[in-house]
Amino acid sequence: MCGIVGYIGKRNALPIVVEALKRLEYRGYDSSGVALIHDSELLVYKRQGKIIELERSLPEPGKCSGNIAIAHTRWATHGEPNEINAHPHSDCHHRLAIVHNGIIENYKVLKDRLMELGHKFVSDTDTEVIVHLIEQFTLSEPTLEDAVCEAMKRVEGTYGLVVIDRDDPNRLITIRKGSPIVIGIGDDENFIASDVHAIIIHTRKVIYLQDNEMCVVERDGFGITTLDRVRVKPQISEVDWDISTIEKGEFKHFMLKEIFEQPTTIENAFRGRIYESMATARLGGLSVPLHELRRTKKIHIIACGTSYHAGLIGKYIIEDLSRIPVEVEYASEYRYRNPIIPDDTIVFTISQSGETADTLAALREAKARGAKVLGITNVVGSSIARESDGGTYIHAGSEIGVASTKAFTSQVTILSLLGILLGRMRNMSTVVGMEYIQELQRLPEKVNRILQKNAQIRLIAESIVHCTNALYLGRGVNYPVALEGALKLKEISYIHAEGYPAAEMKHGPIALIDENMPVVAVATRDPLYDKIYSNLNEVRSRKARLICIASEGDELLAQIAEHVVTIPDTLNNLQPILSVIPLQLLAYHVADLRGFDVDQPRNLAKSVTVE
Ligand code: AGP
Repeated sequence: MCGIVGYIGKRNALPIVVEALKRLEYRGYDSSGVALIHDSELLVYKRQGKIIELERSLPEPGKCSGNIAIAHTRWATHGEPNEINAHPHSDCHHRLAIVHNGIIENYKVLKDRLMELGHKFVSDTDTEVIVHLIEQFTLSEPTLEDAVCEAMKRVEGTYGLVVIDRDDPNRLITIRKGSPIVIGIGDDENFIASDVHAIIIHTRKVIYLQDNEMCVVERDGFGITTLDRVRVKPQISEVDWDISTIEKGEFKHFMLKEIFEQPTTIENAFRGRIYESMATARLGGLSVPLHELRRTKKIHIIACGTSYHAGLIGKYIIEDLSRIPVEVEYASEYRYRNPIIPDDTIVFTISQSGETADTLAALREAKARGAKVLGITNVVGSSIARESDGGTYIHAGSEIGVASTKAFTSQVTILSLLGILLGRMRNMSTVVGMEYIQELQRLPEKVNRILQKNAQIRLIAESIVHCTNALYLGRGVNYPVALEGALKLKEISYIHAEGYPAAEMKHGPIALIDENMPVVAVATRDPLYDKIYSNLNEVRSRKARLICIASEGDELLAQIAEHVVTIPDTLNNLQPILSVIPLQLLAYHVADLRGFDVDQPRNLAKSVTVE
């Protein structure tokens, strides 16, 4: 999604904001732009395509030394992804420029009214309406910040916004509703960004602006108010991430690096959360008293994409371990239907970014219906984390690759802990609890063993690199793993792939199978092994190219499959944490061999902050 940065200080602003924009590239974008004040003039540069195109259009650093600038990467919503529609957008007199994330729903009404008042529009964007509306209010309001607040009171929709003013090069104004804005506090300089990644190399002291707050940011200070200009006391937070998580290091792509981080990130997810002497888990942040958790009669899990797949696995685990019924639903569906949320239901939202618009809206819907909503998120201070009644962080560190990998295994690890916790409160014995705990602790080493198969998986990828379709099969708890494997392949290699429960395949998709169709099957040694083995024989007899993820020591599947990747055994409910790893690597290598931009696949954004 779109990215915002702003800088005010004593240094040359242009290289700082361009560098910061590059750190937001992972979010996905189609054009970029920058506005700065130089010699009392407002200069705006924009380009379609990659940031490198924007850089080529910029003056040399020595020739342009303004100390205040804003910049933007755009992911088109209203209007084509071209140079005119790229941000920043300016007012009629080229005094103001703004960058905006979000969507203005009533832009048409506002635009018509502003045109009647004589404002001239050049783009097809909803954003341009905002800058003209602010310009209009500068005619009646005493200060620019008053004009910004009055303008934004008239706007329906979501926004994270930064305004630069040619006539006042000593401050930037930022305001938000529904789209994140973080202010970075430096030494005689300050930063604004839509995502802390952009500014973390400059400062770790940040303020997460809240909805309906406006902040005037100066070189040596800042002041926050509500839209009604009531002062707000800022909450300063310290970002404690390891900076190496935002660098690729020795890896060719962030996705590959993140796949290889999983032994550590899985461990980080359970570290400090295992209560060995009681053979259970503790998830302190849930903020639900134990007696209330014990009373839980139903769980809803709401999420999108990969997080939704983690939720599906959570259903298998939690229902099996605690016997509490779990419903898992796409957030985009949940938010618009009329969900039944009985008393004693806990609603969990799962989101890596914590900013996914559909998940956030579903969270609000559940809260509005009086449900207790807990968030499982990665990004600290994100909207979902803040708006939930409680929850837990997965501690996976920054995930930059658009294709989510390490967040998925960390989410499933947290859901396993939750299953253990709820199970131990009901009918799970100490012995079983202990067995789960010990197996969880063995997972990082087992993941390491799977990662050593990287070279073998690259060879398998070579054998399917030219295919146009693929089918992924799994059963039981490995069925959502098949869905996830297919999602990984399609989003980065643009090969059409579908995940199916292996037995369901014979009710339709089997018609697609011929000698050109790779079928990737997760067939580890579990209670359904014999069943899936039969399903795979059906596939093989239709000449499909069978690739199996099997348990170490399995000799049967090698007789029918073209390739077998073996993985260590674990408890059935924990198997997805291992079985997904070869599928992540397979998707990565196919995309890399096809020469695609693995970390920034076309049309995709890291966090989808629009409906
Ligand atoms: C995962 O590879 C995808 N890029 C996407 O499906 C993602 O999982 C989804 O958009 C949800 O994001 P979230 O976890 O940040 O809410």
